[in-house]
Amino acid sequence: LRVGVVMGGNSSEYDVSMLTGAEFVKHLNKKKYEVVEVVIDQPKDILKWYQKIDFALLALHGKNGEDGKVQALLEALEIPYSGSGIASSAICLDKNISKLIMESHGVKTPKWIMVKKDYPMSLDLFYGLSLPLIIKPNQGGSSIGIHIANAYEEIEDLLEDSFIYDDEVIVEEWIEGQEITCSMIKGEIIPVLSVQPNMTFYDYTAKYSENDNIQKLAILDETITDQIKSIASLCWSLFKLKTYARIDLIIQDGQIYVIEINTLPGMTRFSHLPKSAMAMGLSYEEILDQIIEESLT
Ligand code: DAL
Ligand code: MG
Repeated sequence: LRVGVVMGGNSSEYDVSMLTGAEFVKHLNKKKYEVVEVVIDQPKDILKWYQKIDFALLALHGKNGEDGKVQALLEALEIPYSGSGIASSAICLDKNISKLIMESHGVKTPKWIMVKKDYPMSLDLFYGLSLPLIIKPNQGGSSIGIHIANAYEEIEDLLEDSFIYDDEVIVEEWIEGQEITCSMIKGEIIPVLSVQPNMTFYDYTAKYSENDNIQKLAILDETITDQIKSIASLCWSLFKLKTYARIDLIIQDGQIYVIEINTLPGMTRFSHLPKSAMAMGLSYEEILDQIIEESLT
């Protein structure tokens, strides 16, 4: 099987994607698979590669890769690929839409407002949200372009920076609590990790630098664990997730809030999903075998 590791992409997460891609290349079982490195800039670059691969192992993150575009091209070319399908990818990368779906199905998610660039805006819009607020590009990832506002007056300037990354930005209530990340393979939850950055929030530097103390197996009571499992399973089916995904959550006073769902979660050596899988005795090589096998069924 010629496995194309598709990485790069026209996204603010290009560098992270290259790190995920490098791990895929490193850990793919070379006795089983012929590995083809496919570095792309634009989704259509896939066209140059399509005759050379039998399967696309997607290492893309963010816009133009995690959002269904590449998935649609691959379906048109009849090349099987890893991860969730077109609609699922497009919906989950859109924080505003995925939060609306969660809310309508009783999945708690922090209160938010979406704002559009060049659209008339008044601060009054935000007074219904409690401070502090977290401001994020609607279709971003890896904490790029994210800011915290401790006063309503700060919002306007912070929005300006987030708009560099996306024409749509969400302003969301910052929930102070235990940050949890729930990785799933084939619809099953693998060990839940607790994330404890040494700073206010889990920013880009904390995500991608050597630090063994950030992720720990979460110690949670049974009721919370059961609730996380049922929320994750509901999200898996609601968002039609496939093969693997990672759901980020915050627990505050026994209430569980879903922050977002990642359809192509980071698989760098710093990332949660491989660490979580390894905690249950699965090697990186075995994770990739499972992803490829499941994607081909
Ligand atoms: N967006 C990054 C890659 C993640 O969710 O892990
Ligand atoms: Mg994300």
